[in-house]
Amino acid sequence: MTATAEPGRIVRALRAAHLHDASRQELLRLACERIQTLGAPYTSVYAYMLRGDELVLEAFAGRETEHTRIPVGKGVCGTAVATGEDQNVPDVGAAGNYLACNLETKAELVVLIRRGATILGQLDIDSDVPAGFSDAHYRAVKEVADALAVLL
Ligand code: SME
Repeated sequence: MTATAEPGRIVRALRAAHLHDASRQELLRLACERIQTLGAPYTSVYAYMLRGDELVLEAFAGRETEHTRIPVGKGVCGTAVATGEDQNVPDVGAAGNYLACNLETKAELVVLIRRGATILGQLDIDSDVPAGFSDAHYRAVKEVADALAVLL
């Protein structure tokens, strides 16, 4: 996804769906699908939403995962919530807190969906490309996450 055009298109699609009364799950699925359709480095895209002290998988595009609920503080996903910081992990094999889904994933990007100080959830993206996510990829995904924070 380029830093400018693609996230803008996805955000416009999300706003249009919202105007047509798309449900929260439909919006999350649309975001996951539109990002994943862009191809490498976006291998699989997951939307985990915070319910109490757990992240719950509400939509995804790409490979299935057994991690449908992740406690805050566990894994790269739970670490993002616990620290309040987005995570760009270039080599998941070297990350002590990584929860593995499959052997193909090499890098992971977690961008929080936050409304003001409140964390609503996150977009979690797996890449089969080692160190797959640049700053431009991060900023692009953040644009989508920020749009979701307003629309959900
Ligand atoms: N790898 C994540 C778990 C979720 S899957 O990637 C879909 C983690 O370490 O939290």
